[in-house]
Amino acid sequence: MSSLEALFAAAKAARDNAYAPYSGFAVGAALRSARGAIYAAANVENAAFPVGTCAEAGAIAAMVAAGDREIAEILVLAGSADPVMPCGACRQRIFELATPQTLVHSAGPEGLRASLPLAELLPRAFGPRDLRSA
Ligand code: THU
Repeated sequence: MSSLEALFAAAKAARDNAYAPYSGFAVGAALRSARGAIYAAANVENAAFPVGTCAEAGAIAAMVAAGDREIAEILVLAGSADPVMPCGACRQRIFELATPQTLVHSAGPEGLRASLPLAELLPRAFGPRDLRSA
């Protein structure tokens, strides 16, 4: 199984467990770390709407909790007509632990739909380097 197939399978399995009773929009995300481990999560909504969390945020939290620090590639999977892309906040979350070249994949239940580098989703991003250079 290729790493992309593994990411797809992990995101799909996580999406099956999404808790999205308010939007009905189930999302799964899976990332491969630079160490080669895969972390996946689903979105978790909340009756207090802003408290809900995106699938990407959960996958990143799982990676960090395991002691991993670098996203090699990440895949997000949803059932929307157009390829789903990480929300603005999650683009920033990914940027923190990735590089501008890190690939962000978008998939639907049927398979991969799009792949593009993070720099295209979040150009000229503010990041850790800005703080270090201050
Ligand atoms: N959502 C994600 O989990 N990831 C995305 O990339 C887009 C949006 C979730 C948040 C919310 O639970 C639902 O999808 C609708 O916005």
